Amino acid sequence: MTDVIASTQQAEPPAFPMRRASACPFDPSPTATHEQQQGPIRRVRLWDGSTPWYVTRHAEARTILADARISADISRPGYPSPAPVDGGGSGLSFILMDDPDHARLRRMVTAPFAVKRIEVMRPAVQRIADDLIDSMLSHTGPVDLVEEFALPLPSLVICELLGVPYGDHDDFQEHSRTIIKRGVAREEQRRAFESLGAYLAQPLHRKIAEPGEDLLSDLGRRVTDGELEMADAVQMGILLLIAGHETTANMIALGTLALIEHPDELARLRDDPDPALVASAVEELLRYLTITHDGRKRVAVEDIEIDGVTIRAGDGIIVATDLGNRDDAVFSDPNRLDVGRNPRTHVAFGFGVHQCLGQPLARMELQVAYATLLRRIPTLTLATTLDAIPFKHDGSVYGVYELPVTWCPAHPQKEEKEQTR
Ligand code: HEM
Repeated sequence: MTDVIASTQQAEPPAFPMRRASACPFDPSPTATHEQQQGPIRRVRLWDGSTPWYVTRHAEARTILADARISADISRPGYPSPAPVDGGGSGLSFILMDDPDHARLRRMVTAPFAVKRIEVMRPAVQRIADDLIDSMLSHTGPVDLVEEFALPLPSLVICELLGVPYGDHDDFQEHSRTIIKRGVAREEQRRAFESLGAYLAQPLHRKIAEPGEDLLSDLGRRVTDGELEMADAVQMGILLLIAGHETTANMIALGTLALIEHPDELARLRDDPDPALVASAVEELLRYLTITHDGRKRVAVEDIEIDGVTIRAGDGIIVATDLGNRDDAVFSDPNRLDVGRNPRTHVAFGFGVHQCLGQPLARMELQVAYATLLRRIPTLTLATTLDAIPFKHDGSVYGVYELPVTWCPAHPQKEEKEQTR
């Protein structure tokens, strides 16, 4: 009964996904914020006319995402896809599976992402960041930070970790972009999955014959031992390759833009290289920007009572983590970027069993990326105006397609590097 009351209180659910306002490109859409003010459990309307639940508050987001009565299985009726998909999404392995299959597959790739193992990689990531900046600084004019720094850094790192060649990066970056873009034709999306699968199958076969020390070799060993099907190994590779570079690349570029547009916060970070402040700034930028802005999509497998609302078995649920991260019940003055805030309870990496596996890697890469950029290029600035930046309004991961930046050539960036390396 209560669900009927709750849904009828909302005359017409707004269309989802909602576009951010051009004047406030770092904030959730004004329509979404309005819904949050109306209540924690709302409804939205999708392209197919369905009206899944829309969870707008931090506490309810965590409650729902920790509830075992929800499913992440995209093939279940009621799953709230923000755009038509080909079921090709199920090529994304355990991120779209439920336990016990999800847990079984996730456990196989947990160890390489443990904090201690990731810290061992920090000096190598620092070298990659410095080399990319050396190359940027060899140009005189403005450069595109996405192309020169934000995209290659995490791509090089995930290729190294998986043990796949970086040389083919143009191809796998393009296929990844196709997969995470909304409204791409089904056929095109299927082809992108197939191409990525073919790209990963080759090294996987090689590593089954001659194993090395990388993640793909480990998956290959499990295939040989009969613990893992070849198709599952390929799908896990696709998931790790896409998740491992697209998200972090968008965070590096969008986070840099957010800092440039908040010069006081940028100056705080640039002038105080304390690792604790850098770590806090990374958490704050993750909270403030919540680049996975299509929310966490789930479907209820049993009835769930929450805040006096009954979510029925089979109902779709979109957990709006971008709104949860701007909840004033949890974060004071939530629409302010404050690099010293250290908001450790943010939900930018999700919550519950599907919480981001790669978060230690993402954190370390972002800490290295922002700190190195600001130390080596302290005069970093936009080479265009904010309204000329192409934002990814059409992607399930938010960011910028290009970020033209420039700097004051007189500054002694080279000495900065030599003193600190
Ligand atoms: C700033 C960067 C990143 C952000 C914002 C991010 C965000 C997220 C979010 C929100 C989820 C939860 C999905 C859900 O609940 O449906 C997730 C899951 C996941 N992420 Fe990340 N991620 C980032 C970087 C990475 C990296 C570097 C990797 C490394 C490969 C990675 C691998 C994964 C995997 C494998 C999952 C699925 C976990 C599961 O289903 O158990 N992510 N990520």
